[in-house]
Amino acid sequence: MWSATSVPNLTGKVALVTGGNTGIGLQTVKQLALHGAKVYMGARSESRAKEAIESILSENHTIGQEHIIWLPLDLSKLFNIVEAAQLLSSLEERLDILINNAGIAADDFTTTTEGFESTMAVNHIGHFVLTTKLLPLLKATASQAGSDVRVVTISSSAERFAPKHNVFATIKDLSDPGTTNPSDYTSRTVVFSRYGASKLANILFTGELQRRLDQEDVKITALALDPGPVATDGGMGVFPSFLKPVLKLVMKSPEKGALNQLFCATAKEAIDEPKTYKGKFLTAPGKTSPGSERSRDSELAQSLWRITEEALKNVGVS
Ligand SMILES: NC(=O)c1ccc[n+]([C@@H]2O[C@H](COP(=O)([O-])OP(=O)(O)OC[C@H]3O[C@@H](n4cnc5c(N)ncnc54)[C@H](OP(=O)(O)O)[C@@H]3O)[C@@H](O)[C@H]2O)c1
Repeated sequence: MWSATSVPNLTGKVALVTGGNTGIGLQTVKQLALHGAKVYMGARSESRAKEAIESILSENHTIGQEHIIWLPLDLSKLFNIVEAAQLLSSLEERLDILINNAGIAADDFTTTTEGFESTMAVNHIGHFVLTTKLLPLLKATASQAGSDVRVVTISSSAERFAPKHNVFATIKDLSDPGTTNPSDYTSRTVVFSRYGASKLANILFTGELQRRLDQEDVKITALALDPGPVATDGGMGVFPSFLKPVLKLVMKSPEKGALNQLFCATAKEAIDEPKTYKGKFLTAPGKTSPGSERSRDSELAQSLWRITEEALKNVGVS
């Protein structure tokens, strides 16, 4: 069975993990660094990032402190994302692994300064901007001999809760992705609808990114995945808090929850078997899943890409 010990030697590789200061992201940062990679922890809070780095270093003496670096990154602020991508591109000559891990399921209908619904903004739009701004660095790395560049985006099987009316046809599908009833912006159904729409967008984004990279003959592998139910603050946050002790028993630990993304980011199989893995959605290490019918709709994926670009152009990010 694929486990953390299956991660290959990553010495010389550079990685960025968004939302790396806690939960599944933190475990991913730790394992990548333990296997020799230089890892940027994308996080919006300096104190939470530094505390998280300290916690990894204090328990893992084989990791040098120069191997985990905080990258200031707030995925709800588009210009901050552009700055983060510029900073990383100025600091590094390569980026082998980008893990778009950060995610939220906002309880209330809130919007970012640029006017996008917060869940869609952080989970999809923020990662779209980050990835596209980092593409020159990723492509430069991919052009080097022996390279193995991956863009891994964390989705969820909750993609199936994306509301049927949202066909990613207009910018409104990003600014108000989950609502069918204008008087209901806070019920659990609507929270899941918004989250589901953003997670469907994560899979569609991955498929379309892969299609575009293949068309340009760029050697980068894009993968999306569901980590499964994981006992993190985010994973348990959708349930009443008195259930926490039980949830910790029935859900995966964050260490186990990180395995699928570690597989997608590092397993040799994923590049040795491109027909099986390229642009695909995995529900366990090595296990691809068809996902919902909509998640496989390439026209929907192209439409999502188009409206995301359009929306970004409207707010001066292109
Ligand atoms: N846990 C599960 O059961 C489960 C199941 C399916 C999919 N997933 C997906 O797995 C990924 C990781 O989830 P998790 O369970 O580890 O969640 P988590 O413990 O809640 O961690 C979420 C991470 O995202 C970061 N984040 C939130 N908003 C951000 C922003 N505006 N800018 C930058 N970073 C931001 C958080 O940073 P702060 O500490 O600053 O808030 C935190 O580091 C998510 O994409 C989630 O949707 C999780």
